[in-house]
Amino acid sequence: MDLARSRRVECWDERRRAGGVAWPAGLELVGDDVEVPLVDGRAVRAVDLDRAATTPSLEAVRDAVVELLPYYGSAHRGAGYKSVVTTRAFEGAREAVRRFVGARPDDAVVFVRSTTEACNLLAHCVGEDADVVVLELEHHANLLPWRRLGARPLPVPRSRDELISSIEAAVAARRSERLLVALTGVSNVTGELMPYEEVAAIAHRAGGRLFLDAAQLAPHRAVDAGASGVDYLALSGHKLYAPFGAGALVGRRDWLEAGAPMLEGGGAVSLVTSDLVVWKQAPERLESGTPNVLGAVALGAACDLLSATGMDVLATIEQALADQLDRLLAGVPGLRRLSIFGEAGQHVGVACFELQGLDHGLVAAALSAEHGVGVRSGCFCAHPLVRELLGVAPGEMEAAARRMAGGAGVRLPGAVRASLGIGTSPEDLARLAAALGELAERGPRWTYRGPDGDGPFEPDPDPRPGAG
Ligand SMILES: Cc1ncc(COP(=O)(O)O)c(C=O)c1O
Repeated sequence: MDLARSRRVECWDERRRAGGVAWPAGLELVGDDVEVPLVDGRAVRAVDLDRAATTPSLEAVRDAVVELLPYYGSAHRGAGYKSVVTTRAFEGAREAVRRFVGARPDDAVVFVRSTTEACNLLAHCVGEDADVVVLELEHHANLLPWRRLGARPLPVPRSRDELISSIEAAVAARRSERLLVALTGVSNVTGELMPYEEVAAIAHRAGGRLFLDAAQLAPHRAVDAGASGVDYLALSGHKLYAPFGAGALVGRRDWLEAGAPMLEGGGAVSLVTSDLVVWKQAPERLESGTPNVLGAVALGAACDLLSATGMDVLATIEQALADQLDRLLAGVPGLRRLSIFGEAGQHVGVACFELQGLDHGLVAAALSAEHGVGVRSGCFCAHPLVRELLGVAPGEMEAAARRMAGGAGVRLPGAVRASLGIGTSPEDLARLAAALGELAERGPRWTYRGPDGDGPFEPDPDPRPGAG
């Protein structure tokens, strides 16, 4: 993409005013007003409705990183002034994350790359002797590490009551002293909120603990880990307006300090002899190697800014937009929403759907190439859940897996997901709905190259600068 040809257009404030959405001052986003080229030669302001995948940087977060850069030095390892400043900024970010998620004072806040790393790290610490209760509705990051430990995920529940009763039954059948229930706060596929406080109480009554995958919850709702009984929590900076490569695993120290760390190396040790290693306590013990200070500082800045703004303020604005999105999508002919719990499902601003007669990948490609609207299509790293929501027989996926393993290109079933966040305007949602309406009625206006296996659809020809 020839970035030089992207132009900044009308400012965020004007759109905000026009749509009547009062995003609080200070939440401006980097690149929010960039234009993108369309296949018909026009250029339009990019509408980013793929926030569940990743988020742009808040300008204030970028500024915090730029401010530290001249003083960037070695955290925890140098005596120079820059090292002192950098160490303070790093540790300050740790405290900002702690405040943002309402962690207990003695919880460890470990900086990691992402939620994926946090899940794998916790699984490493929890160990194979644990009983882990997990549902098939999870993102692969919160599914595969537990399967590796021997967990047999519970089927996707189709109501909140079913979710509670299946977890209760699994907890009652536990065999190990160490019990962990792993649950997402919000489904990354449908945006539905999970009753995690109730699940924490179930785990605690049985002497177990709750791990909350907050990757999709933390950007949209206030989290108070201590008050809601969350023992461990993971989040990703890049989904929280701080895309600088850091995330966090937060939680009770004892399990995190058992055994050797997942990554062994410098910074994690107090002493190494020819035969022995004395590991530090968490978090250092789990942060071997030179840390991603700038990522951590970005994450801390985002946490502070969102806390100061008030997550409840954001939630109220986003709920109004989510309701508008629901109404608009209900008016698109042939559009079928996917949902775990049906109509009763409370959800954040995420909508997952199929458009009758059109491949999910074609819909996403046409939204981008013809309308400048960015969404995601496919299975959203949650194959078991999407299979269930689409009503595909398990055997079909097993057969596809076997063909894939044999080297065949296989097109998987899938859906389209639109997701909103800070800066989304009513106009953005109207553009999505109008584009979907047009696609539903007349199909794509351009021609597209069919996907190679599970790859993307591509405009053919693609005259957009840098794309052809
Ligand atoms: C619910 C959920 N958990 C975990 C992840 C993995 O996050 P990351 O890609 O930042 O590691 C995602 C990413 O989409 C997610 O939505």
